[in-house]
Amino acid sequence: MQDVTVVDHPLVRHKLTLMRKKDTSTNSFRQLLKEIGGLLCYEITRDLPLQTVEIETPLMPMSAPAIAGKKLVFAAILRSGMGMLEGMLELVPAARVAHVGLYRDPETLGSVEYYFKAPTALGDRLVIVVDPMLATGNTAIAAVQRLKDAGARDIRMACLLAAPEGVEKFHAAHPDVRVWTAAVDERLNDHGYIVPGLGDAGDRMYGTK
Ligand code: URA
Repeated sequence: MQDVTVVDHPLVRHKLTLMRKKDTSTNSFRQLLKEIGGLLCYEITRDLPLQTVEIETPLMPMSAPAIAGKKLVFAAILRSGMGMLEGMLELVPAARVAHVGLYRDPETLGSVEYYFKAPTALGDRLVIVVDPMLATGNTAIAAVQRLKDAGARDIRMACLLAAPEGVEKFHAAHPDVRVWTAAVDERLNDHGYIVPGLGDAGDRMYGTK
């Protein structure tokens, strides 16, 4: 699928299978989401620019690579984005964090904003939007638009599972934003859930159903 990178490393595929199983505990689900968050982050940041810095090892001076360029921002869509965020922050502890509170109206499946807090100078940073489920695409589209309105220009999207319908709609709205996901599933069902999917990611993370 165009402009979607499926991170199909065996560890990611295995962990995703465990997450899909309906009997996986809340605790395990959260732990796996965090782990996959870190693994996706590793791939999404693969092309970060490097600069050469002068350091001293215990044996001698050397020129060594270090990350250069824009500071990272992880923009977590509440609430399930928090689960992936944790694993990403373990990998890039210096990243800044934005929180985007959007909920999905169960009737219209449209997005309603209830919270937004982001670091300053978004235009100078690489912003990685974090939302495990790219289902209808409405939430991700609204979150990216909100971040663009706040100044973000260089944006990437990290999700755990995507539906083909959501990916298509997302790319129609934001053709400049590349998507990374662990899998693209079959389709959406009539309630806007991804199938086969894994159910409601937020509920499974926090045991709210
Ligand atoms: N959100 C979820 O948590 N699961 C889906 O399948 C779709 C949207």
